[in-house]
Amino acid sequence: MSLSPPQRVLLPTLWLMLAAGLSPAADADTPPAPLEIASWWVSPGERASLEVIRRHAQTQGLRWQQRIVAGSGTRRYGDVLKRWVAENRAPMASQVIGYDIHDWARQAQLAFLDDVATAQEWDEVVPLGIQQLSKYQGHWVAAPINAHSTNWLWINARRLRQLKADAPDSWPDLLRLLDAAQKAGITPLAIGTEAWEHTLLFEAVAAGAGGAEFYRRAFLELDSSALDDSVLPEIFQRMRLLRHYAKTLAQTPSWDKATEQVRRGEALLQVQGTWVDGEFSARQLKPDEDYACFRFPDTQGMFIFNADQYMFFKHTPEPARQRFARVLLDPAMQAELNIATGAAPARVDVPQEKFNACGQKAIRDMRRANLQRTLMGSIAMGNANPPAVKNAIYAVVSAHFLGRIDDATAITRLRQAIAGAGSGKHTPVR
Ligand code: GAL
Repeated sequence: MSLSPPQRVLLPTLWLMLAAGLSPAADADTPPAPLEIASWWVSPGERASLEVIRRHAQTQGLRWQQRIVAGSGTRRYGDVLKRWVAENRAPMASQVIGYDIHDWARQAQLAFLDDVATAQEWDEVVPLGIQQLSKYQGHWVAAPINAHSTNWLWINARRLRQLKADAPDSWPDLLRLLDAAQKAGITPLAIGTEAWEHTLLFEAVAAGAGGAEFYRRAFLELDSSALDDSVLPEIFQRMRLLRHYAKTLAQTPSWDKATEQVRRGEALLQVQGTWVDGEFSARQLKPDEDYACFRFPDTQGMFIFNADQYMFFKHTPEPARQRFARVLLDPAMQAELNIATGAAPARVDVPQEKFNACGQKAIRDMRRANLQRTLMGSIAMGNANPPAVKNAIYAVVSAHFLGRIDDATAITRLRQAIAGAGSGKHTPVR
């Protein structure tokens, strides 16, 4: 029997799935497997995204139940999840990001996903920086569903045209643009009040001022010797300048309210993750016409990532675990999901044609950064370093951004936060 090229590619995968005891797809005779998931997605773009996952899961014979706990950032959600686990009522699968995955794995709470990962060849298609978080001691313990990136400017295109300004390519360009907005009576920078949002701004500023190697050494490897006087004063000075443009701080409780201010043209721009693209898409806005997405100046070529993932608690029945894990990494599901979410898929091989202009740029950037080792975890979203370090950085950066401590104090405390993380030289856990 001669095989067509697609069959040749499919056969080994099929064989691996059967060898691993996985059925290739749900059929009419297979009873639906109950699945209960938990997530923090509540905004319009996030709800549209969850709906995509639900639909694909149901098509694969899963009986979907969901628990949704609102909370900008993930701290509140994380606390609720810990309580459920302590009370013995954990969901089967939970959304999770960053180093929290390793915390759960260290407590031996998570089911391994190696069978599905082997069958779907996750090792080959998931960017390496993300794999480091999805795996613990060599085992896949989480299934990544997207590769958001945080180093973006989201700009109201009508206001940009009104200011007759171009894409800001460098730090001085950005300052000129923010000044022009100020003079025109538009709030230059919209940002919420939460520490993770201040830290998200900080990571873009730090990567822009210090470059990729500085970012990697200082925040991923936690190498104190990277934190010398050549870059830190510049970073905090830039943060101080940005605070001056963030007039709406007091009235903007969270990132999605800041997105609304940009959408309505009350504010010119926001520095946030690609979930903003999901919000704009959920409101039928179009890139270029209604909004513009540019890399944060001087971070072009870097992809500061935040990957949403799902982990499975050990009590999850096998059929539900296998079917849902397979759905999550399915290329068609990842395409549809991330068109709604605004992120790049968590696989490098998902075709980009159907994504909007911002999504296509995100995918190209992600693929290139994966090869150049400039795909680096977001500090703000807990993808760069363990929770204790992240929280120490939040405290310094937020106190400084809110004007409670000066630059010199911030520099000293940031050094302490990184040095306190342990040995100094730190290799991300695999
Ligand atoms: C992140 C999550 C994103 C988005 C964002 C804003 O934690 O990974 O998908 O939901 O929060 O809520």
